[in-house]
Amino acid sequence: MTKEQINEIVRKMTLDEKIGMIHGSGFFHTEGVERLGVPRLMTSDGPMGVRGEFFDAKWLFLNQQDDLVTYLPCYSALASTFNRKLAYEEGDVLGSEARGRGKDVILAPGINLKRSPLCGRNFEYFSEDGYLTSELAIEFVKGIQQNDVAACVKHFALNNQETARMAVSSEIDEEIFRDTYLEVFRRVLLEGDARSVMGAYNRVYGEYCCESEFLLNKILRDEWDYEGVVISDWGGVHDTYKAASAGCDIEMSVTDNFDEYYFAEPLKKMVEEKKIDESIIDKKVFRILLMMDKLNMLEGDRKAGAYNTRAHQEAAYRVASESIVLLKNESDVLPLKAEKQKRILVIGDNAIRQHSLGGGSAEIKALYEINPILGIKEYLGGNTRVDFIAGYDAEIAPDATEISWQEKSLEVTEEENEQIKKVSKEKREEVEKVLKSVDYDSVIYVGGLNHVIDREGFDKDDMKLPYGQDELISTILDCRKDAVIVLISGSSVEMGSWIDKADTVLWSYYNGCEGGRALAHIIFGEVNPSGRLPETFYLKPEDCSAFSVGEFGKKDKVHYTEGYEIGYKYTDKHGVKVQFPFGYGLSYTTFKVTDEKISGDGKKMHVTVKNTGDREGLETVMIFGDNEKTCVRELIGFEKVMIRSGECAEVEFELPDGYSNISTSRVK
Ligand code: BGC
Repeated sequence: MTKEQINEIVRKMTLDEKIGMIHGSGFFHTEGVERLGVPRLMTSDGPMGVRGEFFDAKWLFLNQQDDLVTYLPCYSALASTFNRKLAYEEGDVLGSEARGRGKDVILAPGINLKRSPLCGRNFEYFSEDGYLTSELAIEFVKGIQQNDVAACVKHFALNNQETARMAVSSEIDEEIFRDTYLEVFRRVLLEGDARSVMGAYNRVYGEYCCESEFLLNKILRDEWDYEGVVISDWGGVHDTYKAASAGCDIEMSVTDNFDEYYFAEPLKKMVEEKKIDESIIDKKVFRILLMMDKLNMLEGDRKAGAYNTRAHQEAAYRVASESIVLLKNESDVLPLKAEKQKRILVIGDNAIRQHSLGGGSAEIKALYEINPILGIKEYLGGNTRVDFIAGYDAEIAPDATEISWQEKSLEVTEEENEQIKKVSKEKREEVEKVLKSVDYDSVIYVGGLNHVIDREGFDKDDMKLPYGQDELISTILDCRKDAVIVLISGSSVEMGSWIDKADTVLWSYYNGCEGGRALAHIIFGEVNPSGRLPETFYLKPEDCSAFSVGEFGKKDKVHYTEGYEIGYKYTDKHGVKVQFPFGYGLSYTTFKVTDEKISGDGKKMHVTVKNTGDREGLETVMIFGDNEKTCVRELIGFEKVMIRSGECAEVEFELPDGYSNISTSRVK
């Protein structure tokens, strides 16, 4: 359709019809204008799969069985793959499933930078690094949108903590803001051609993001020329006039008084009273129609999508198997030899836990979720006896089948996050007794965090493992130094009290429906691990610049005084000791950079990497440079390549301007 044709539709609409299109008339949709062939706009969360269907006006899942979907690895897991192709593939699956479920807009991806290890939604975000986030999210958005579904990139902007997320104002130097957090949004929205963006809950420079002249009119529309649709976070609008004139297009919320939404009757009244010009509403409707047209919703053939296909499940497996990070493997304990396992012991709640139905709005109803013990048993078959002990008591995460957390989420953010940390001495003693009395071929511990802790609306109090796991892991390692320690989590945890005792540590973020299978394949050597950490694993939260230099978790204003020094850009520059650095990850083989040179005109870099071990593996080649403007050393290129044993791979990078000392080493 031409823009003139779209304007023609707008001209034919009554004010009521236009108002219907710019606010929620159910929790996840707006109204269409049937007589003009304009359908409702159907949205859905979210990041790890298409969320279950809700009642229109009640925060409860409809009790139906046709909304089960492919559960995808969370974005931290996706980022650990350092693989743009997989980012595209996962986006493609999400887009196809969204379309298959009849959705027009999928509320993903979340691209906020991980400024602090304590943010409750870190699992929904990619990385602390803007370049890595942008490179992967751009591909992800393209993957979604090739299915005639719009991505809704969130949360714009500076929504880096959950504490007081409905009120807190993020304060940052404007130039630094533009070069860092805004640059990620600019690239993903423009290079990814994302059709919509979600205004965040918080304030920036004192203004709510969904009402911010600076963010929405100046940056987004005037400077970036962004033509997509701005959708408010659910309950992110607080003032009719401000939000309407700042360029927010659609108001969504969490309460069922749809006609009373700021963009419903109150806005209509303001237009009728000539307090707001109707042309402002027309622009919103125009942008929505433009998006609908790009999604082939108004005319032409639209893709139908599909969900739960074998191909989608295979893509979920590919991401899961490339995302698991081998943190330690002394004495080559891993991979375990399957044929030698007659009797093994699996310990830990995360071996049997399903994570899909938790985390807040990221919760989904998964068709299936292979947990680690299922993955292990499936792989080993019936000749191995697999014993299991929980080892600790974990809590049950709240989910939409029990209570309506989302309706209450706007209130509970002010409350303290009560994490119950039960130290179960008896359970630990039970584990010790079993380990001392039975001669297991192997012991596998699967612990970490869960969505009681990694969840929307709350930040974590600390980085400690809950439920007495530190003591439990120490006890296990005292009995069996070769126990395989697996941590499944959405954000980094302290490991200091036991890490030196452990031979072997594997790390997995919430890894989707195939996560347990991928884990088993890595433990038993079917797959060679190739994940790399997309964030710094600090020794303790205070080592992160958001605490040591800036502020985090305050309720009124949070000053981002760490400036450009986010994550490793701070720890590397100041020599702060960390548990595991950004980009870290081992393999069952070894790699060596044998040559790296910048070619004549200084525009290209050529790196040769050799697989010096005895099995083939995927290696991520990263290059770093000193940013001449910001004075931080940062990632400027990465490529993942498969290299056979004894062979070399040649990788070529285009070099950006403004960097010096470019090399494959993160630290100079
Ligand atoms: C979250 C968004 C989500 C929306 C709709 C809000 O609580 O912040 O990320 O898309 O709810 O469920």
